Amino acid sequence: MCGIFGYIGTKDSLQVCLNGLQLLEYRGYDSTGIAGVENGQIAYCKEAGKLHVLQQKLPFQKLDVAIGHTRWATHGKVSSNNAHPHLDEKCDIALVHNGIIENYDVLRSDLQMHGVRFVSETDSEVIVQLIAHHYKGELVEAVQKVLPLLKGHFAIAVIHKDFPDRIVAAARECPLAIGYDDAGTEAVISSDPNAFLSSTPNVLFLRKDEVALIQKGKISLFNSQNLPLCKQPERLEGHHTPPSKGGFAHYMLKEIFEQSATVQKAIFGRMDEKEVLFEALPETFRNAKRVWFIGCGTSAHAGMIGSLFLEDIAQIPSHTEIASEARFRIVPEETLVIAISQSGETADTIAAVREFKSRGLKVLGICNVKNSTLTRETDGCIFLKAGPEMSVCSTKAFTSQIAVLYLLAKFFARQSAEEIKTIPAQIQEVLKLAPLIQQIAKKYSHFRNFFFMGRHYMYPTCLEAALKLKEISYVNANGYPAGELKHGPIALIDTHFPVVAFCANKQTEEKILSNLQEVKARGAPIIALAPKELSAVSAVADDVIWLPSTSDKLAPFTSTVAGQLLAYYIALSLGCDIDQPRNLAKSVTVE
Ligand code: G6P
Repeated sequence: MCGIFGYIGTKDSLQVCLNGLQLLEYRGYDSTGIAGVENGQIAYCKEAGKLHVLQQKLPFQKLDVAIGHTRWATHGKVSSNNAHPHLDEKCDIALVHNGIIENYDVLRSDLQMHGVRFVSETDSEVIVQLIAHHYKGELVEAVQKVLPLLKGHFAIAVIHKDFPDRIVAAARECPLAIGYDDAGTEAVISSDPNAFLSSTPNVLFLRKDEVALIQKGKISLFNSQNLPLCKQPERLEGHHTPPSKGGFAHYMLKEIFEQSATVQKAIFGRMDEKEVLFEALPETFRNAKRVWFIGCGTSAHAGMIGSLFLEDIAQIPSHTEIASEARFRIVPEETLVIAISQSGETADTIAAVREFKSRGLKVLGICNVKNSTLTRETDGCIFLKAGPEMSVCSTKAFTSQIAVLYLLAKFFARQSAEEIKTIPAQIQEVLKLAPLIQQIAKKYSHFRNFFFMGRHYMYPTCLEAALKLKEISYVNANGYPAGELKHGPIALIDTHFPVVAFCANKQTEEKILSNLQEVKARGAPIIALAPKELSAVSAVADDVIWLPSTSDKLAPFTSTVAGQLLAYYIALSLGCDIDQPRNLAKSVTVE
């Protein structure tokens, strides 16, 4: 239920709204929908599937005002019925919603007792039916009456057939930005200001049950007590270059191949021969007694590598916690929390940031997307500068994250980081292996289960590689610390269960070679990713991807790129939807 957009102004509302939805597809693409006012009636269209499906089915060419939605399903299966916008029984009001209404069941039963009939399985429909129930000719008032009844979090946009000149919006915890131009000819609402910034740079963010009445050239705001509110807009800069695959078959492949350049950008200008320098990083952060990383998915894996960097390089005790689990943990005082998120919009990460800030802790963000929620809610932010990442499966953001984390550990240690400059060239070397990796991928693409294993730096690296394979090929790939396999998982090993071994950690070389013997003895086919000098690996592995030689700390870069290519080519052999895999969203905006 995840990206909302709305437009009112002199441009073609329908087209502007469709363009906005395209830029919000990273928040989900299970279904899309759009509604507006046409000849005094609500006109709408909603379809299961991505935006292009909706565009082919649109029954209208023009709308006076438009609201749209792109969904990542939570309550109710993926279907056109459960797609947004949702309408009240009389089809007078249309609503789009991002978030979750936790008490929707009780509210729905109450309304059903009043004779209201529901047509979807969603929690969202209850909001529009409630608004209709309370509507007495004033849309803002009806919305204001409904908000205190809702438990959970939301950003909503609502239109009424009698008011083709207005959108009413409200938010609690979910991001909602309102943009307007200097000339007062148009106004836009969006879950993400980056979806409209080029034309409407004045931006207001709605917070805690605030309600906005949006008209062309006029925004009226009300606080949670329904009193008029005066807020100064922020002036945000941004523009969009239309995304392009640059001749590659998929965004993922393009982004894998960009990594030499994106790692270069992440480190450029951030160090001299003596030390690391971060722009806008408060000096007091260096006094942290310990560091906790939080993040989800790929960003959590980057955090795990960051923890090892901080302990090995700066001797600062460090821990990584999955963001959705972090709130259950005691975090000692004087801990610096570092929230990692490519998008800066992941709801679990944002919720953990809010939780730790409310406990009085300082939070640093590491983020790729400017103006995102994370960048606004943290005490400082380091940007990855990787450029837009379009593929749902994160690749270049991960290597930029670990580049920044390496620099950060050096910053804490007051050391130079010159050695990281070798990484862009080493990534180039790995990219040259793409044809060989494609051959290996084809050979193994019929297997349905894989173990990925590694030790020390190669443990989080193998978790990330296994996640890539799961995400885009729908193959069961489980990452394990290599020493742990014998404590249970090895029971699964047979000739149908390949092991992908990440061997580039010199400190644990002998041990991983023994672990390889253990799985070999049980018949597992083995693919090893190993540095050139580890010749012993060829005696035990069936296939080896030979990587450039580097230190243990820097090995995650090269091994990761090889793992990404392996996942990509397996998914390609299987004919999967690589850039937009089923059931996923680039950024999951519900907890
Ligand atoms: C989603 C994506 C993952 C991503 C995770 C965290 O689950 O599918 O690829 O790693 O969110 O995203 P973030 O933007 O917070 O790094």
